[in-house]
Amino acid sequence: MCGIVGFIGKKQAAPIILDGLSKLEYRGYDSAGMAVFDGEKINVVKAAGKLKRLVELTHDGAEIKGFAGVGHTRWATHGQPTSENAHPHLNGKGTIAVVHNGIIENYISLKKMLTKKGYSFKSETDTEVIPNLLDYYYKGDPLEAIQKTLHRIEGSYSFGIIFADRPGELYAARKASPLICGKNDEGTFIASDVPALLKYTRRVYYIGEEEIARLTENSIEFFDVDASPIEKEEVEIKWDASAAEKSGYEHFMIKEIYEEPKTVKDTIRPRIKGNTVEIEELGMTDEEIKEVGGIFIVACGSAYHAGVTGKYVFEGMARIPVNVDIASEFRYRNPILNEKDLVIVISQSGETADTKEALRVAKQAGCKVLAIVNVVGSSIAREADKVMYTWAGPEISVATTKAYSAQLVALYLLAIKFAHVRGRITDDEMTSYIQDLKKLPDQIELLLGNREKIQHFANRYVAAKDVFFIGRGIDYAISLEGSLKLKEISYVHSEAYAAGELKHGTISLIEDGTLVVAVATQKDLLAKTVSNIVEVKSRGAFVLAVTNVGSTEVENVSDYVLFIPETNRYFANSLAIIPLQLFGYYVSVGRGYDVDHPRNLAKSVTVE
Ligand code: G6P
Repeated sequence: MCGIVGFIGKKQAAPIILDGLSKLEYRGYDSAGMAVFDGEKINVVKAAGKLKRLVELTHDGAEIKGFAGVGHTRWATHGQPTSENAHPHLNGKGTIAVVHNGIIENYISLKKMLTKKGYSFKSETDTEVIPNLLDYYYKGDPLEAIQKTLHRIEGSYSFGIIFADRPGELYAARKASPLICGKNDEGTFIASDVPALLKYTRRVYYIGEEEIARLTENSIEFFDVDASPIEKEEVEIKWDASAAEKSGYEHFMIKEIYEEPKTVKDTIRPRIKGNTVEIEELGMTDEEIKEVGGIFIVACGSAYHAGVTGKYVFEGMARIPVNVDIASEFRYRNPILNEKDLVIVISQSGETADTKEALRVAKQAGCKVLAIVNVVGSSIAREADKVMYTWAGPEISVATTKAYSAQLVALYLLAIKFAHVRGRITDDEMTSYIQDLKKLPDQIELLLGNREKIQHFANRYVAAKDVFFIGRGIDYAISLEGSLKLKEISYVHSEAYAAGELKHGTISLIEDGTLVVAVATQKDLLAKTVSNIVEVKSRGAFVLAVTNVGSTEVENVSDYVLFIPETNRYFANSLAIIPLQLFGYYVSVGRGYDVDHPRNLAKSVTVE
């Protein structure tokens, strides 16, 4: 989704802004622009398409001089991805430049009001009202103008703002959309995400809800929405800078798939003490765990798919009723929540607007909210009652892989903990689950060693038009994610179906040569899935099966088989998803697509 970078200091701003924006490209965008103050006026360059275009237009930033500026990568919401609609936007006089992430929900009425006062607009965006509203309120005090503007607008925002008559200052403000700032000897920075700043500083400040920041070349001050000063603590970013680089891999996605053994290990290790699972950050006594009435798991996209697996694991292992909801549905469906329910929200970015709102709905209902989040210090992490971090490090590719794997194991750990405390599993069973958990990283490694076989198969099916993924129970949850991986990066139409449901409609779409990926890891359901494989085969399907080593009954009825090593039934997703992620990746590579930046998608969706 949109990215913001701003700089003010002793160095030329444009190259720093371009470099920062390049680190945010992974978030997904369709146009880019920047505004730099040259000592007299604000100069703006914007272009539809990739950042490369902006780099060319400005000769790597050399053509646009000045020591203060703001830049933006835009993911179109209001208006086409054209250069007119790209940010920054200026007031009519060209004296105030604004970049914006989020949506100004009342922009139509504000536009009407401003038009009546004589203001005119050049773009179709909601954002353009902001520089004009600032202009309307500006009487020489930027803080006052920003404060008044924030009081007038509804929606979500993070802003980077420069005023031509305040050459030594850069302003930022945010609500419901992330923004951080940082400082080094050369100047101060703002950015919507950590990777943009890693090269310059590791000490950052998180701008809070409805807070304003004023940056000069060597200072950062914070104010609340009423312009009263506030104190803020610096946070040290511990990410390894190379984690946000490709390090020789062709794409971030394949690099991140290769990081899965480490990610899984890093997420499990701190929570295993001897033969027990200890999740300190859960902050719940055994009594409180016993009292939990039901669990709601709420998330979007792949995180939701991890939640679907979580339901099977929690219900199977701990016998607690679990509802899994898509966050955008949960927040509006007036869910029946009880104070004894535990709500688990899952999010890689910690910034997904729907998930964040679902969290608020749950808190309002008096539920305890546990967040499983990857990005440290993100909004969801800060708003939840408790946070269980997945230790996947920065995930750059839009299609999630390692963060999803980390979410799965976080859920397994929780389920084991709950099952044990609630007397559903014995000490020995817990020990056995822990042994299986510890084996997962090596088993994933083993599966990665098989990538050529998957690449070979993907090349064969690179021209596929429709693909169906089927499975039962946890295998259905795996199918959901396998199907999403394929469609989001290779643009092949693909659907996941509960294997038993296929015959209630979808089977009419199966014809000669249609690829059906059958996931069959759940031993008690194998015979049933085998019947479904036979059903589709007899209608002409070509079946790729993902099943357990030694599963001859599945092998006998399928056309091509990928085996996963032996694990217990609950953890099969962590293994079966690896070949499916690789399959999606290699089909996308084979079709020549931009794997890390799939069209129309964004890494972190901070709007509804
Ligand atoms: C976007 C991404 C998906 C991701 C989903 C949830 O749609 O493209 O890959 O699964 O958001 O993101 P989150 O950061 O909340 O896990």
